[in-house]
Amino acid sequence: MNASSKDPRRLLVVGATGRLGAAIAKALVQRGDHVALTARSGPRLEALADELGASGERPTTVCADLRERGAPEHIAREVLATGRLDGVVLACGPFPRTPFDELTREDLEQTLLVHAIAPLLLVNALAEELERREASVVALIDAGVTRPYPNHVAYLTAKGALQTGLRALAVELAPKVRVNLLALGVVADPEADEDPLRMHRLAARSPLGRFGTPAEVVHATLALLDATWATGEIWGVGR
Ligand SMILES: NC(=O)c1ccc[n+]([C@@H]2O[C@H](COP(=O)([O-])OP(=O)(O)OC[C@H]3O[C@@H](n4cnc5c(N)ncnc54)[C@H](OP(=O)(O)O)[C@@H]3O)[C@@H](O)[C@H]2O)c1
Repeated sequence: MNASSKDPRRLLVVGATGRLGAAIAKALVQRGDHVALTARSGPRLEALADELGASGERPTTVCADLRERGAPEHIAREVLATGRLDGVVLACGPFPRTPFDELTREDLEQTLLVHAIAPLLLVNALAEELERREASVVALIDAGVTRPYPNHVAYLTAKGALQTGLRALAVELAPKVRVNLLALGVVADPEADEDPLRMHRLAARSPLGRFGTPAEVVHATLALLDATWATGEIWGVGR
């Protein structure tokens, strides 16, 4: 990010309606940045834009399914048509359970599309503007890429592809654009975490003995966005 710029920065949050994407978008607005938002579900996107716009500029929203051909280019066009861009946060995609004995070609293709191919094409489509603005890209990846867990072969394969692809982009886009990754452990989700025993067993694997919170992910994301002496880095939190 161009630290010398006096204008408010404008960042694109991909997966903006998700638990972590929404928390990051809100924190960016709170600190004075402008945001553009993209996700799949229109109503959720508009509700978030209304909430964020209540106290300032209403964010641009782009509703797109990243599995569709042309979605990255469509998002890039819409975002650039409505202003400059100083950064991107990649926080998109589902967390599909794909037991290995039921794994299909479609599982792999769909998960790779949304988690790896589309985000890489999106950064590529935005590259000229990102270079012009000396921008910063941060992606939320998963600690499971280097310490895999069961039943998520498609997801972990796709996150691994994203990790490798973005580190290659960090080299391609240097020195103007910084591209960094945040490898997350498990973030607690009170609605989804229904089996307390299983959750306790999983949390106990972490040296800190607990899951993370969206606020802790926000803190690390903003720090990495602003880390002007880092590119191609993977910061681990909550391992
Ligand atoms: N939560 C964790 O414990 C954890 C741990 C490690 C890594 N991560 C990573 O952190 C990121 C955010 O996680 P989260 O928990 O916030 O996820 P989440 O709540 O499930 O949100 C996912 C976001 O991705 C969007 N999305 C899903 N499929 C899409 C598609 N086909 N096209 C376009 N957008 C799509 C969703 O939009 P719609 O709602 O509109 O579909 C939503 O905005 C993900 O990349 C995840 O892999 C999370």
